[in-house]
Amino acid sequence: MRTYTIALVLAGLTAMVGCSKDEQKATPPAATTPPPATTTAPPAATSAAPVASAAPSAAPANVVELAIESVKNTMTYDKTKLSVPKGSTVHLTFKNNATMATLPHNWVLVKAGTEAAVAAAGLKLGEAAGYFDARNKDALAHTPLIKPGESGDVTFTAPDPGDYPFICTFPGHYMMMKGVLTVTP
Ligand code: CU
Repeated sequence: MRTYTIALVLAGLTAMVGCSKDEQKATPPAATTPPPATTTAPPAATSAAPVASAAPSAAPANVVELAIESVKNTMTYDKTKLSVPKGSTVHLTFKNNATMATLPHNWVLVKAGTEAAVAAAGLKLGEAAGYFDARNKDALAHTPLIKPGESGDVTFTAPDPGDYPFICTFPGHYMMMKGVLTVTP
């Protein structure tokens, strides 16, 4: 499509040049006309759409869709219990419903008993890291830090059966902003 458009533009220019300069019939006009290519750029912006449509070839077993949100301007999730089958591919979407700029949130799945450590490690790295330490082996999945009014998502494979806490690692939130994801056998 793009090359077709360029070809048309070049053909048109060639015709124009041909009319106005009879003396230089043999000169290739292409060398003097590089600009046309830039006119075809804009359409690319429309491709920044939903990710879901980009996976027509994927027909894997057991994709589980989960959706969770924060409750208004609080440090709580709207769900404190989630459940997925072992080994499933989990696509979780998290929406931050806060309107106060001071309430960014994330969703971090951790191994039981490591909530405080994971939150502390994130706190250490600070805002630039989204209050999350990606090297932490106790964190099994996480969304980015989501600003008020925005959404984010994460895809991960459900771990072994058991109960896994999920928390928000934004400073001061993890003790209140939490829940449990149960992985069933
Ligand atoms: Cu939070």
